[in-house]
Amino acid sequence: MKEMTFFSSLEDLDSESKYLVHKAKEAAQHAYAPYSKFHVGAALLLDDGSYVPGSNQENASYPLCMCAERVALYAAAALHPDKVIKKIAVVAHKKNHKELANASSCGACRQVLREFEVRQGEPIQVVMYDDNKWIRCESTEALLPLSFDRSHLKD
Ligand code: THU
Repeated sequence: MKEMTFFSSLEDLDSESKYLVHKAKEAAQHAYAPYSKFHVGAALLLDDGSYVPGSNQENASYPLCMCAERVALYAAAALHPDKVIKKIAVVAHKKNHKELANASSCGACRQVLREFEVRQGEPIQVVMYDDNKWIRCESTEALLPLSFDRSHLKD
């Protein structure tokens, strides 16, 4: 399994990750979360140095809510189909709270992240804040060991 590293302060992360966290915080400003009041922002770093934001988008029909990570990933697939995703950062805060909330990508987003990584054949780093610390995974494999993927569907 690939590496997962914990940091007590954002300052201890590499500068690329820190900047991506900044982009994820910006993305969270566009969350539409009137039901959960949990505002999530995600930002992807692509191999050409560009960024793709995502934020959670909720619906009165609750099961239709979409997580920030998947909004960003599907936007990247639609807008930049030939680019490799190098890294994703995810942050969250509760409505009217400035400080970050602990958050962790849900199982559905982990499965989708895994699909993107397997599809592009290059690791996606994942940066998130949970358990009051920063976490950087070198690959989605660490978040979803023994995952179900396209290899299981081969003849
Ligand atoms: N949420 C995300 O955007 N990403 C996750 O990985 C976990 C949950 C959103 C979905 C919903 O709008 C709100 O957080 C509360 O679950």
